[in-house]
Amino acid sequence: MKRLVFSFLVLIPAALFGQLYLQDKPLDVPYVPSKPEVVATMLRMAKVAKGDVLYDLGCGDGRIVITAAELYGIRGVGIDIDPDRIQESKENAAKANVGHLVKFMEQDLFQADFHEATVVSIYLLTSVNLRLRPNLLAQLRPGTRIVSHNYAMDTWKPDDSAIVMVNDTTHNVYLWIVPANVTGAWEGSWTDGAAKTAFGLDLDQHFQWPSGNLKLGREEIPLTEIRLVGDQVQFTAEPEDPSRTPRMSFTGKAAGNDMQGTVEIGNPDGRKTQKPWKAKRAPLSMKPLAAEK
Ligand SMILES: C[S@@+](CC[C@H](N)C(=O)[O-])C[C@H]1O[C@@H](n2cnc3c(N)ncnc32)[C@H](O)[C@@H]1O
Repeated sequence: MKRLVFSFLVLIPAALFGQLYLQDKPLDVPYVPSKPEVVATMLRMAKVAKGDVLYDLGCGDGRIVITAAELYGIRGVGIDIDPDRIQESKENAAKANVGHLVKFMEQDLFQADFHEATVVSIYLLTSVNLRLRPNLLAQLRPGTRIVSHNYAMDTWKPDDSAIVMVNDTTHNVYLWIVPANVTGAWEGSWTDGAAKTAFGLDLDQHFQWPSGNLKLGREEIPLTEIRLVGDQVQFTAEPEDPSRTPRMSFTGKAAGNDMQGTVEIGNPDGRKTQKPWKAKRAPLSMKPLAAEK
């Protein structure tokens, strides 16, 4: 009887506690593997393809990284703080014959360097995602896809989401595309043969949603139809009086403090002309996206 009481009072709580505490390393999330149907949806939503490099932060038994290597032949890295999970992942990779494509590392995901990833998968918790968000935005290149099982990122709304039903249980999958940071003051121009028209852009940004104005001469025109997907940017400046200043629709690519692309200008006679444009940002005017709430 005494032994039974000891089991209940000491062993069971110790076992439960062990789920969230490994020696001196706390687990931020307990181990719960994603079902194969959910893994397949995560990889499909991320549009995983040849040449991608996938990082699973908190990789459990390695199933997401291993499935991606099996289905798409891509390289992957799994990071988990629990040495048992890493051991299991390595054994599973060997069984699946993808040991040459995948790597598993025992590490705290908050200390991890995952900047080379083109796809990141997570199955954590909203609170953990929010702590991780600044690292994701600081390390990942524009265009990198992040897929999350069940947990979102508060005001960083996903670019896409899906529901997967497995045995009457609903699983949510969320997708984000890391946006370029286009915030700040830009000086630009478009060219038409030898003629050059100068303009300014003042841009703010809430994750993948920029807003701002275009300055043309003394006119300040609010931007509409703004879209930013990775490093691909598009916006329109529609002046109040189109007979004086035409409608301008810009498309382009952002790379650090440079943007360039094509602007389509509507002429009063209904014709449209396309001209190349370029802009440079004053580097100190850029605001960090990671500071967004
Ligand atoms: C819910 S499981 C997800 C496993 C796997 N990604 C999947 O979807 O099947 C969360 C994993 O995160 C790991 N984990 C928890 N805190 C961590 C941390 N700070 N750093 C790295 N891994 C952590 C746990 O050990 C566990 O394996």
